[in-house]
Amino acid sequence: MESKITLTAVKADIGGFVGHSSVHPALLEKVKECLEQKNKGLLIDFHVTHVGDDINLFLTHKEGIDSANIHELAWDTFKEATEVAKKLKLYGAGQDLLEDSFSGNIKGLGPGIAEMEFVERPSEPVIIFMADKTEPGAWNYPLYKIFADPFNTIGLVIDPKMHEGFKFEVHDLIENKKIIFSLPEELYNLLIFIGAPGRYCIKNIFSKTTGEIAATSSTQRLNLLAGRYVGKDDPVCIVRCQSGLPAVGEALEPFANPHLVSGWMRGSHSGPLMPVSLNNATPTRFDGPPRVVALGFQMCNGKFIGPQDFFADIAFDNARQKANDLADYLRRLGPFEPHRLGLDEMEYTTMPSVMDKLKDRFEDIE
Ligand code: 13P
Ligand code: 13P
Ligand code: MG
Ligand code: MG
Repeated sequence: MESKITLTAVKADIGGFVGHSSVHPALLEKVKECLEQKNKGLLIDFHVTHVGDDINLFLTHKEGIDSANIHELAWDTFKEATEVAKKLKLYGAGQDLLEDSFSGNIKGLGPGIAEMEFVERPSEPVIIFMADKTEPGAWNYPLYKIFADPFNTIGLVIDPKMHEGFKFEVHDLIENKKIIFSLPEELYNLLIFIGAPGRYCIKNIFSKTTGEIAATSSTQRLNLLAGRYVGKDDPVCIVRCQSGLPAVGEALEPFANPHLVSGWMRGSHSGPLMPVSLNNATPTRFDGPPRVVALGFQMCNGKFIGPQDFFADIAFDNARQKANDLADYLRRLGPFEPHRLGLDEMEYTTMPSVMDKLKDRFEDIE
């Protein structure tokens, strides 16, 4: 039997440089050093990168998903690098590490994680998308377009290996439940849920032709875990491409139309998700606009051959222009919805305490 590899993408904000805009090079150095020294032969390969103030670790190994060994390695790595962040007094040092110690699985401790296990195909192109200043539901729109919309993905129409469609596993992040929809026949059922990305998130997508995992995303919601505002969750998503799965260009296509996502300033605003190169992944204006980077790799016996920094391409210039135009428009709305998020998304910020102070001044209307 061919042996499987696991691809794990795990991310955390352990201190911003400057403010919430980026990551200090000393942290990236420390993270690389830790992974090299502490992996005890567990890893086949690793790649360290960042988007905005979030450090992303891409790891390959044979330990399967939810491996305590791998999760602990990532946790210890983030913990050690947090010490560097504290020394440099970086902003919000240790922000995403909600607990003091590791307890078997990194899920629920703060960092975001997306993992998939598969037999590497003769050629295995993958794209790892990573975003800053937004939440896991930000992937709903592009994942829907990539795997269910024939106007985006012609492969659904003309590739016999894609024609049957895909299965979508959706998580309800409030009730902690999951459901699987079979597309295209359950298209409308899927959309009623994933059109509400603050609550329902696409976690996994499977090929109906082969049953294989095609995409997976991180779905942690820090605010729900912490019960207080700790920023948005700045998610990561892995998409396998080609040969019965969407072509690379089909996976990139939805980002040519910057959709509105929740996040941006103080995690409390709606703004366009701007596709950018690694070099431009430093949110500035109003701590944004929200950014997405797409790194392509050809996996080779578990090694990362790459990255290809896809959104560096001039073909995404118009999307960036459009995102800037949308940002201009939305910023003029200031503290008004729909630029500022609705009250249910604000409850982890000032609303409860403001309401508490003012509650005695509210009178019944006759
Ligand atoms: P595959 O059939 O190998 O996925 O190729 C399709 C393609 O690359 C079209 O862009
Ligand atoms: P991060 O979630 O990226 O740390 O951003 C938080 C924030 O408040 C930005 O204004
Ligand atoms: Mg931050
Ligand atoms: Mg961030």
